[in-house]
Amino acid sequence: MSSYLSGLFSLAGRVALVTGGSSGIGYGIAEALGRAGAAVVLVARREKQLAEAAAGLAGHGVRVATISADLGDRAAVAQVTEQAANFFGDIDILVNDAANNIRRPMTELTLDDYEQTIAVNLTAPYLLGQHYGPRMAARGWGRIINIGSQQSIRAFGDSGAYGLAKAGICGLTRSQAEAWTPHGVTSNTLIPGFVLTPLTEAAQAIPGRVEALAARTMTGRNGLPADFAGIAILLASPASAYITGQTLCVDGGFSAT
Ligand SMILES: NC(=O)c1ccc[n+]([C@@H]2O[C@H](COP(=O)([O-])OP(=O)(O)OC[C@H]3O[C@@H](n4cnc5c(N)ncnc54)[C@H](OP(=O)(O)O)[C@@H]3O)[C@@H](O)[C@H]2O)c1
Repeated sequence: MSSYLSGLFSLAGRVALVTGGSSGIGYGIAEALGRAGAAVVLVARREKQLAEAAAGLAGHGVRVATISADLGDRAAVAQVTEQAANFFGDIDILVNDAANNIRRPMTELTLDDYEQTIAVNLTAPYLLGQHYGPRMAARGWGRIINIGSQQSIRAFGDSGAYGLAKAGICGLTRSQAEAWTPHGVTSNTLIPGFVLTPLTEAAQAIPGRVEALAARTMTGRNGLPADFAGIAILLASPASAYITGQTLCVDGGFSAT
């Protein structure tokens, strides 16, 4: 890479924490940040998937560590913040990707569904931001990337509690940006379209659904985890110092139609 490009985009010397980094979009982002030079700490529940993801990243020469934790449990979130800096040093880049999606019709949602959804999809990103944001600000540099959804900006097929948590993510991003951008920390939300990952396997199994959703994009295809590589590097890099508090759709034009 030329020194011009590395000055803009290199993440050498940076440390990223990626929740949900063992699968799908989170894995795609973790690989991108790692291959751009960051050391990466992956957080998810299942050990086997974490180990496989870590092996995949290591295969690209990425320095990687894993933490198994259920982010729906506040005590486990606190343990993540206790452990994460022990691997490669302070966290410079926080990616809040882990989420669940309980797709029952609104009328059938239980209070447990609601509380579980808010805990994983909104409270954990908030708590991780509350831990890392001030530390990044004290060091004068940091990047937060929160993953939203089409349901951050519209209702879309039993959006339910997931939709309200994902709308909240955009507000969280703006509040984080307001709080810490004066101290060199940006926060932005990425909004995927329909991405072929384990999270959407149930929708993918409905005959015709994958094709119908692809047809609603301008690109004519659904998303892949690799589609998030470039934007993740940009939003984690020095080049994006003047981009903050924003919601960016990475959806093949889905939301613009
Ligand atoms: N795929 C799409 O079409 C789409 C569309 C819009 C938005 N999104 C958003 O994109 C993000 C990633 O989705 P994806 O499709 O890549 O999903 P995915 O492939 O199912 O990956 C989800 C990741 O989150 C982890 N996770 C889930 N619950 C967790 C918990 N309680 N504690 C810790 N980790 C947990 C999973 O690991 P474990 O299960 O092992 O914990 C896994 O690493 C989510 O925020 C999702 O809402 C996806």
